[in-house]
Amino acid sequence: MISNLLRDAAATNRLREFAFGNEDFQALRQLVKQLTGINLTEQKRELVYGRLARRLRTLQLKSFAEYRELLARDGGREISELCNAITTNLTAFFREPHHFDYLREQVLLPLAADPNGTRRLRIWSAGCSTGEEAYSLAMTVIETLPDLRRWDVRILATDLDSDVLQRAQRGIYAAERMRNLSPQRLSRFFLERSERAGPSYEVTPQIAALITFKQLNLMHPLPMRGPLDVIFCRNVVIYFDKDTQRDLFGRICQLQRPGDLLFLGHSESLFKVTESYSLIGKTVYRRC
Ligand SMILES: C[S@@+](CC[C@H](N)C(=O)[O-])C[C@H]1O[C@@H](n2cnc3c(N)ncnc32)[C@H](O)[C@@H]1O
Repeated sequence: MISNLLRDAAATNRLREFAFGNEDFQALRQLVKQLTGINLTEQKRELVYGRLARRLRTLQLKSFAEYRELLARDGGREISELCNAITTNLTAFFREPHHFDYLREQVLLPLAADPNGTRRLRIWSAGCSTGEEAYSLAMTVIETLPDLRRWDVRILATDLDSDVLQRAQRGIYAAERMRNLSPQRLSRFFLERSERAGPSYEVTPQIAALITFKQLNLMHPLPMRGPLDVIFCRNVVIYFDKDTQRDLFGRICQLQRPGDLLFLGHSESLFKVTESYSLIGKTVYRRC
């Protein structure tokens, strides 16, 4: 059995452009875990090869051993490229739309109806990728809160990956990314640009003004002061092991007061992670 596995691995290596031994995978896996919290399981071996082989080509390196040497000696520049290459950035406008409905009906409308409310709202999109989640939050807020000028609303959107963050900040999206948006939202919140490759859509200054994008690694200390009324941390911790999740939510919960809300992705849960939150809806948690 083991000799078959070794023979298969050797055959795969012969077909590869760059030799990629077990020691390469294990060393990169350990480094990625330490840097980002992302836990690359055995099943991710080919994904790691595919994504990093592109870096080797760009850098004109001959082997993964050379790449590991570069990571050890270049003072951090390639480390950032490594993190960008490894992260999975899949996202969409109004992804998991029930969360935005929940936010509108259970948070924003009651706040708007409260004559003694503070009119202050702080929302964090943690792991915002290319920005669609943060802009969807801004659209929901603008659509729901009457007379927004009388409110103090800020949306903080952060990600570790500097490439996606730059795209989020530009706020320009190709037509095929706009599929989840109604014609009303498209015309209210986006400006159409015609480019050689076809039309693209740029967010209006009104929604951009609500959001601050910042690079932040969730493995590092969280610099914000809080309290944060609402945190969207969706489809991020799915890549972390339970200990890393425990550590992260142990720090995140300190930024929220009892009653504040935390939204996770559809396949994520706080079961055996923390007891500081109770489940109150479909992957919606309330700080206890
Ligand atoms: C799959 S995307 C999810 C985007 C969005 N939240 C959504 O649900 O549509 C996951 C994002 O988490 C980011 N991420 C992964 N590890 C991170 C870390 N340690 N610190 C900050 N962001 C991280 C990735 O760069 C990626 O953009």
